[in-house]
Amino acid sequence: MTATQQSTIADAALRRALDRGVDLARLGPARDPNPRVGCVLLAPDGSVVAEGAHGGAGTPHAETAALAAAGQAARGTTAVVTLEPCAHHGRTPPCAAALVEAGVAAVVYAVPDVTTAGGGAQVLAAGGVEVRQQPHPGAEDLVADWARAARLGRPHVTWKIASTLDGRVAAADGTSRWITSPQARRAAHAVREQVGAVLVGTGTALADDPSLTARDDTGALLPEQPLRVVVGTRDLPAGSQLSRGLAGAAPTADRTSPADTPHPGEVVHLRTHDPTEVLADVRARGVHSVLLEGGPTLGGAFWRAGLVDELLVHLAPALLGAGPHAIPDLGIGTMADAARLELVEVTRLGPDLQLRLRPTRPAQEE
Ligand SMILES: NC(=O)c1ccc[n+]([C@@H]2O[C@H](COP(=O)([O-])OP(=O)(O)OC[C@H]3O[C@@H](n4cnc5c(N)ncnc54)[C@H](OP(=O)(O)O)[C@@H]3O)[C@@H](O)[C@H]2O)c1
Repeated sequence: MTATQQSTIADAALRRALDRGVDLARLGPARDPNPRVGCVLLAPDGSVVAEGAHGGAGTPHAETAALAAAGQAARGTTAVVTLEPCAHHGRTPPCAAALVEAGVAAVVYAVPDVTTAGGGAQVLAAGGVEVRQQPHPGAEDLVADWARAARLGRPHVTWKIASTLDGRVAAADGTSRWITSPQARRAAHAVREQVGAVLVGTGTALADDPSLTARDDTGALLPEQPLRVVVGTRDLPAGSQLSRGLAGAAPTADRTSPADTPHPGEVVHLRTHDPTEVLADVRARGVHSVLLEGGPTLGGAFWRAGLVDELLVHLAPALLGAGPHAIPDLGIGTMADAARLELVEVTRLGPDLQLRLRPTRPAQEE
């Protein structure tokens, strides 16, 4: 087959197959070194021959799962895949070669693979398979974090700060609840649900006893939970919210809840001060994006290491005049050395402002 085969399948059928591929891909683990991928094999009349999804690193890729399900029926089909089939030998053999071998006539993929595993489209074309890219927003969303981490060579880091107008993140007596409004806190929980991991230093863990879970207004856990990471050498007090989530800890009320209730994400305690080591560790656990929730000491260490990609500031119209500063001493002594940021987005959250910012070049390079 043939150029004719693919063109006999209507665009609407290909779009439906990509929608289905995205649904299948979502069955795979959200936190995994590999991207989530779904594959649907279509007969020339557009009917579904077989489907496959990737179940995480070390398991068959979506394309090979679909080919295995189809057997001989794979010959002459159009494989519709959410991500360009891989061309490299990883823990499993390359999918592009497997598709050629199986006699697939055409491949339609949504997102080009820009990583070292990419190049599958050329392998397929060289093998006589008709290849076409068909953009699909759902498929792009599915792998956006994974692709960005692949480009960076580490997880993307957003440093989130809730501060008063005068840049304080707690009061002089150590109280910090609550600086911002319920609307801002709801938005913060929604961000937690979207990232692979939430990070705090032991200072914050000890001062605030946070749970770091993603919750709704009633306190119920949202469906997706981030890995919860504490960084620092001090122990967490027994019975603290985070120590209850550590591997080996006694079951909590949350852990005995019904199977269809989301469980809080696992807690990891990394006894290091090295931000690079922290990111390498969480990446190996399949984390592609990190929400660094402070405090100032840990945030400052990531900033100085050049490992902050974005700042998310929830600015409350409140003044404290004393208490810890959001940003610690960054070693900047003169105006020309000020760290400059680009203001990417401003959103009003009830009485508060949400500022999304990205670091730019140092002032002297402007
Ligand atoms: N409003 C907000 O957005 C917000 C957010 C978070 C915290 N806070 C407030 O911030 C205060 C806590 O501030 P904090 O700065 O002490 O908290 P932190 O940054 O969470 O923790 C600091 C501790 O982390 C460890 N650590 C890890 N990496 C480090 C590194 N590279 N360099 C130095 N230390 C490192 C050290 O503890 P070890 O000795 O254990 O190694 C250090 O004492 C609390 O009042 C809390 O309420 C506010």
